[in-house]
Amino acid sequence: AGNTDFSGKKVMITMGPTQEALDPVRYISNHSSGKMGLALADAFLSRGADVFVISGPISLKVNKDAFHWKNVRSAKEMYDAASAIHDQMDICVFAAAVADYAPAEIAPEKIKKSDASLSISLVKNVDIAASLGAKKKQNQVHVGFALETENEAKNAQLKLSKKNFDVIVLNSMKDSGAGFQLDTNKVHIFHASGLSIQSDVAPKKQIADLILDQIKNIPVWV
Ligand code: PMT
Repeated sequence: AGNTDFSGKKVMITMGPTQEALDPVRYISNHSSGKMGLALADAFLSRGADVFVISGPISLKVNKDAFHWKNVRSAKEMYDAASAIHDQMDICVFAAAVADYAPAEIAPEKIKKSDASLSISLVKNVDIAASLGAKKKQNQVHVGFALETENEAKNAQLKLSKKNFDVIVLNSMKDSGAGFQLDTNKVHIFHASGLSIQSDVAPKKQIADLILDQIKNIPVWV
């Protein structure tokens, strides 16, 4: 028997990319593999939590039966799934790489190639973390991620307050061994309280356990 310090806690994790359809065969997306989110889901599970995963399209091998697992595609679908269960959650971790914009219209048929150039008009997607953050109750903990390429710490701290997170986990595209697709990550964790800690490059599984340890430092738990 392992450490069950999260037993009795209901945890929601958003993970993976979203896909925003352009037409029946094409979409806009990003490089998220779901590995960081899955490492978190596994860590919470092995530490006793009841884990609700909302995942964008991924190609990892997963034992979905161990979780309450919901597959989604677009940011809108991810938002609907998260909103439906948010109220019952103790902890929400927003590890998904959600597309900030989606095509204004989904063409009903495959867009045909022509000699002219093509412009696509995009509209802003709902911000899942910010919308649910505005509804966060006193006994709920929200953990966000920030994927940055510049002014990393400043941008992460802005997102921390804007989205009403208790903790934000910064991973920088500038750090080797960090970010999309790799089995490792390197993070800088900022608490709303001002506390912050940095990790070395480590397997995502180990980073996930570090994040869980940090969640236990949040005042709501003491
Ligand atoms: O999946 P992997 O290949 O393992 O890669 C892991 C990861 C790099 C995707 C992950 O560690 C990570 O950083 N996820 C968040 C990526 C991201 O979109 O960050 P952001 O800085 O754009 O968003 C800030 C926060 O708001 C995130 O918690 C994000 O989930 C959330 N958000 C953003 C936009 C939106 N419309 N809704 C959201 O909920």
